[in-house]
Amino acid sequence: MRRARLTVVAAGLLALASASRERTLELHPSHHPAPQCEPLSAQAARGRAIYRKGMTVGGEPIVGALSGADVTLSGRDAACASCHAQAGAGTEEGGVAAPPITPEALFAPAGAGRQERGAYTTEALAAAIREGRTPLPRQLGPSMPRFRLEPTEMDDLLAYLRCLGHDRDPGVSEDEIRLGAALPLVGPGGGLGASVRAVLSAYFEDVNAQGGVFGRRLALSVEDSAQGPAGERAALERLSRAGIFALVGSVWSGAPEVEASLRAEELPLVGPVAAGRAAAGGDLVFHVHPGPEVLARVAVKYLADERAEGRVWLVHARDAEGERWAEGARVEAARRGVSLAGAMVFAPGGFEPGLLREAVRGGGEAAILFSGSARELVAAARAMERQKAVHIYAPASLMAGLEEESEAVARVVLFLYPGLVGEGPMRALEGFTAFLRDHGMTARDMGEKVSAYVAARLVVEALKRAGASPTRSGLVAALEGLHDFESGLVPALSYGKNRRVGVMGARLVRVGEPRGRITAISDWIEVTP
Ligand code: HEC
Repeated sequence: MRRARLTVVAAGLLALASASRERTLELHPSHHPAPQCEPLSAQAARGRAIYRKGMTVGGEPIVGALSGADVTLSGRDAACASCHAQAGAGTEEGGVAAPPITPEALFAPAGAGRQERGAYTTEALAAAIREGRTPLPRQLGPSMPRFRLEPTEMDDLLAYLRCLGHDRDPGVSEDEIRLGAALPLVGPGGGLGASVRAVLSAYFEDVNAQGGVFGRRLALSVEDSAQGPAGERAALERLSRAGIFALVGSVWSGAPEVEASLRAEELPLVGPVAAGRAAAGGDLVFHVHPGPEVLARVAVKYLADERAEGRVWLVHARDAEGERWAEGARVEAARRGVSLAGAMVFAPGGFEPGLLREAVRGGGEAAILFSGSARELVAAARAMERQKAVHIYAPASLMAGLEEESEAVARVVLFLYPGLVGEGPMRALEGFTAFLRDHGMTARDMGEKVSAYVAARLVVEALKRAGASPTRSGLVAALEGLHDFESGLVPALSYGKNRRVGVMGARLVRVGEPRGRITAISDWIEVTP
């Protein structure tokens, strides 16, 4: 047995025999990940939860003590991934380098650092994790925590470490990448859900007809997310149980409990479709469209750049949308030294145009940053109609809710419009209509269909960039590296380490005269994350 192992080493395979009977590490050359890593054994999958989340299978956080100090880290802070990175490549932050700990780095005959600390065996690795002792031996620095782990937990972790960087995330197999979408399929939103699903499937079908992504076909699983956040969360849980790599084009409420389940699974969501209203969602959600906070910032930037003399009023409903609108306005006003004359906050549905008229009366030039319902916007515009120097700035989402032609709106309201205007987009839209027709779809729910199409293109582009062995963290990194990605249907999309909204700008437009026509009255205005 011993001889057999030595032969394996001689043959150039990185096999390490430990003295212990039950812990045997057999590693394969770096370009041939150990086959047992795809998929992970149950033991290694438990180890992965320790590595990535700092959680044991029993749901207990792991604890690590920083040596020389009375400080312990636990749970996510203690997770190996938080210092050594998701795939074990290591990180360097604030002058502290957490080295790579992939099997190649720890066990390779000429691996980095091997000279000073010797080659690891399974036993030696356990000693490093428990006591900070390297094989030669040397004590590891104080920023590598000393971990208290039960023997079985240590075994789980060690089993995973030998697959680190070579394990496939859920939803990826030899010949398929499975993506998921949580969409309302029944009830009032059911038609919309069906439209989004049809566009996603059609686009993936086209990609598959051309050979897929790195030879893998794209598959789509859809689960019904009707019934509010609880339904949304249940849909996400069903999808992740079924094994999906990432979410694409889902309807996304941004509710905290739903965000929590994304986070628990570390499941990225690319291009949520939410009837034009982007909701926040932490680091895992890559929005296409700007939310109300971005649009409010564009309005304030415009006012600052135009050096408008007048007073700026913030008027919004006390709901999630209104709060985000107000927050964006305040952030940008602080950045640009614009002072707000005052804020008027009303209960949703309780806007009183008379009060606004009183407040603004006789003040000369004024800008009103308005977030509420479309009907309330019309009321505000009517109240301001006779005040020549007053403009109301409102998010473009309210355009869709305008029921009647209103001269007051046409004259007084400037919409923050984050879409394309002009000839080019008209042609792109014709191309898109042809795509719909080819796949037997109509132009109903056009807004959502466009969003779904852009989301599908975005995820495919990111998958191509994530390479032949895609991981969820690789997908996130690929998205963060996307700049000026053109879909033709929405303005160019850019993301970054601190940027989760693809379109971070808008144009000011008027709507109406002639009927329903959108007229741009400013250039494209961008804000920074
Ligand atoms: C708070 C940050 C942090 C966390 C969390 C952390 N490490 Fe480390 N680790 C380090 C640093 C920094 C070093 C380098 C110390 C040195 O060289 O003196 C290190 C070194 C190591 C080494 C030695 C590598 C070598 O080349 O000798 C191993 C093995 C290791 N860590 C494994 C782990 C494992 C497994 C976990 C999770 C259970 C973990 N680490 C969690 C920061 C961390």
